[in-house]
Amino acid sequence: MTKITCIQADITTLEVDAIVNAANNSLLGGGGVDGAIHRKAGPRLLAACRALDGCATGEAKLTEGFDLPAKVVIHTVGPVWRGGAHNEAALLHACYTRSLEIANALHLRSIAFPCISTGVYGYPNQAAAEIALQAVRSFLLTPTSLESIIFCCYLSQDFLVYQNLLNT
Ligand code: AR6
Repeated sequence: MTKITCIQADITTLEVDAIVNAANNSLLGGGGVDGAIHRKAGPRLLAACRALDGCATGEAKLTEGFDLPAKVVIHTVGPVWRGGAHNEAALLHACYTRSLEIANALHLRSIAFPCISTGVYGYPNQAAAEIALQAVRSFLLTPTSLESIIFCCYLSQDFLVYQNLLNT
């Protein structure tokens, strides 16, 4: 059985196998959770990201965690919210699925996600959380190494949204 939980925390403090980064197509860093992860991981993370040659929206790529407590970082690129008719939902769903596939392929046991796309990229929080949970639940229909999947909310408004969703 895989446990799905939500917490309110800074994702860079978590001692999990994998944390997911809400990056941009360049994978060369930015603000928000991306900036926080790069600051904590140290300059070796940027060097590793340079070698990845960017990442398409809805895709994910792997690096080590370097100075983070997490073993690895899975960098994914969420969609920019443009009103909802530009494939945003499918792309956001793919971010979660692709990240879980990478973690599973590495036989990891724990993974933490930030609320991808809901900051600078403007995705509405409730709709984004529903997609995140849908993607996780459909991924869990097949056997996985993952024992713990954590939605790591930074803002209390997101934490409340996930608490409500997980209790229904
Ligand atoms: N731990 C967990 N969550 C965090 C943290 C943290 N330390 N800091 C912020 N968040 P955003 P996006 C939450 O803007 O919308 C970057 O510049 C935040 O409250 O980081 O996918 C990239 O380089 C929000 O809930 O990512 C891209 O250019 C969530 O993380 C762009 O932003 C995502 O907000 C990506 O935009």
